[in-house]
Amino acid sequence: MGGVMKIAVIGKGGREQALVETLASSPCHPQLFAFPGSDAIFQSAKPLHADGLNSLIDAMVAEGIDLCVAGEESYLVSGDGLSNLCAKAGIPCWGPPKESAQLEASKEFAKKFLMKHGIPTGAAVAVANAQEARAAIAGHYPTVLKFDGLAAGKGVAVCPDEATADAFLNEVFEEKRFGEGRLLVEEYLSGPEISIFAAVCDDKFLILCPARDYKRLKDGDEGPNTGGMGAVASRRLTDDDTIRTIEARIVAPTVAGLRQDGLPYRGFLYFGLMLTPDGPKVIEYNCRFGDPECEAVMPLLRGDLASFCYAGAKGDFRPELIDFNEGWSVCCILASAGYPASSHSGDVITGLDTCEARVFHCGTKRVDSAWQAAGGRVLAITATGNTLQDARTRAYAEAAKVDFHGSQRRGDIAYRNI
Ligand code: AMP
Ligand code: GLY
Repeated sequence: MGGVMKIAVIGKGGREQALVETLASSPCHPQLFAFPGSDAIFQSAKPLHADGLNSLIDAMVAEGIDLCVAGEESYLVSGDGLSNLCAKAGIPCWGPPKESAQLEASKEFAKKFLMKHGIPTGAAVAVANAQEARAAIAGHYPTVLKFDGLAAGKGVAVCPDEATADAFLNEVFEEKRFGEGRLLVEEYLSGPEISIFAAVCDDKFLILCPARDYKRLKDGDEGPNTGGMGAVASRRLTDDDTIRTIEARIVAPTVAGLRQDGLPYRGFLYFGLMLTPDGPKVIEYNCRFGDPECEAVMPLLRGDLASFCYAGAKGDFRPELIDFNEGWSVCCILASAGYPASSHSGDVITGLDTCEARVFHCGTKRVDSAWQAAGGRVLAITATGNTLQDARTRAYAEAAKVDFHGSQRRGDIAYRNI
């Protein structure tokens, strides 16, 4: 690297804006680039112009990019894989190669990995059709059905009874809503959920600030599953004993398992966990940061994220470069009318100029001097505070200043499930 560090962040949502802004404010003063980016992201990052993965690599080489940071999962597993292509081009990448990202892309791959390495998770059977699925369910409800591929958070159905299971089996095997693929029939688990993030560098890892997201559309955890309607993050979200158990039984064996199976990993690894009465169990892995958890966690980060990721992407683990402030962070999502079944674009957003919280744009566009909604989740509004109460009172007070026609939001983020 000669002179200023150049970092490319790949993705276009609120998570990527949070990463871009946190990287940009690192003490090493890097220069930020983004693809495909968004109007909001381009306020702090220059656009990379590309048409597909291979041309993105060409654009990064031409720009002299020193570090590629993977935001969104799709690039890691599409084509030859973002990280694999970066490796060929000699660009350090914070984000795993395609073969390792199967942990997220295939639920069956992840389940086999978990079982093989003795990591606590729900029992599951993989099936190829509705008949096999019904045999595996064997009349035991509730049951959990998971499509074996990337389905933008919509491929999982928690089924309280036969009617809901049949409806989902129909979507998967008759309507082929998610395309071709197998299905996991998984044991139903109960307990509070928590999102644990680790920064993994080969055989080493650092557990970052934990978070909790709110997946259902409506207050009281009612309504359909969404990409996430808000998040709360704090070091104090769980007690130290629980974190130690999670580290010993889940994070450390996962990192050791990746090594043992010859799956290289440098990047964020997300553990979706259920804190069951029998201890923490893995619900899913994601090979990137969570969204909207990232928009809650990043405002708590201190130190030099850019240098941390740059060193880590080259195999030099430098945990002393980052840490987290002891406070709380609360993120409220504003979604457009019709979300999650559909989304609505073009509604003008008001109040952004008076909002004093951190605002990350999940789906907006700038038209003349106004911001318009352009997607399902539109904005992530985050406030931090020394106490949970401070953070959520501020988050809600600031979010109340912002609106657009048909906006949907939850009123109980960080009030429930703490
Ligand atoms: P996933 O896409 O795997 O994160 O699943 C989406 C949501 O479905 C999770 O956040 C849980 O709320 C729920 N879920 C997934 N697996 C299970 C399970 N085995 N038992 C109960 N709920 C589950
Ligand atoms: N917040 C859930 C996810 O990022 O997958």
